[in-house]
Amino acid sequence: MARMTLASSVRDRLMETSLVYRLWQAPFADQKLAPVLGDIDVRRVGRVLDLACGPGTNAHHFDARSYTGVDINHAYIERARGRYEGRFIVADATAPSMLIGERFDFILVNSFLHHLGTDAVAKTLVRVNELLGDDGQVHVLDLVLPPRPGLARILARADRGNYARPIADWRDLLERSFEPVFLEPFALTVAGIPLWNMFHFKGRKRADDSPVTRASSEACFSSELASTPASR
Ligand SMILES: C[S@@+](CC[C@H](N)C(=O)[O-])C[C@H]1O[C@@H](n2cnc3c(N)ncnc32)[C@H](O)[C@@H]1O
Repeated sequence: MARMTLASSVRDRLMETSLVYRLWQAPFADQKLAPVLGDIDVRRVGRVLDLACGPGTNAHHFDARSYTGVDINHAYIERARGRYEGRFIVADATAPSMLIGERFDFILVNSFLHHLGTDAVAKTLVRVNELLGDDGQVHVLDLVLPPRPGLARILARADRGNYARPIADWRDLLERSFEPVFLEPFALTVAGIPLWNMFHFKGRKRADDSPVTRASSEACFSSELASTPASR
């Protein structure tokens, strides 16, 4: 157990350096973003917020003039500023005051929420909904905990983020905060072998006074409340 904790802590320290993170992510970054790129031309989406942008992993896909990346890790943001022209800000994405007064047309939340406990996810999503412009859209990509034993479940459990969730739990969390457009599962593969199970959720701003938003801001959560699949 102590050996596992030490190994996890060494892994986390290494991943917090921009170079190690980029080397590890490089083969998968485009696979992860492919469902979003297949859905919309991201160079024409207006004001973009890339929440928990890492060292700017996905910044090059967007128009730098309308792109804002936020991350809590100073080294990642320094690295991103050195490589890309967009606006990069060090901030805690779970803070209610983050980017106060700003509105975005397109918010990307890629591989971030599985680092947060359920209450923090619920509060962050309420904030993301506030940051969306009236016609804005949010795209969330994240890690699914597969129901059955196997390689994908082992890898999800081994991830730096401690909160890979069953897909029904993700759906429940996301549909509390946004008007769902669709939620689609996909896999990251190597040589055709699925290694990580992911989902792509697309949602629209939910009106402030909707009962679901009120419930969400109370941050209550039950995986038993998973609703029926949304259609595109
Ligand atoms: C798995 S990485 C994903 C990075 C990037 N979105 C990507 O797709 O490669 C998770 C990111 O979340 C950031 N992060 C963790 N907690 C955060 C917080 N409270 N506020 C902002 N960023 C945070 C980490 O620094 C890291 O860059």
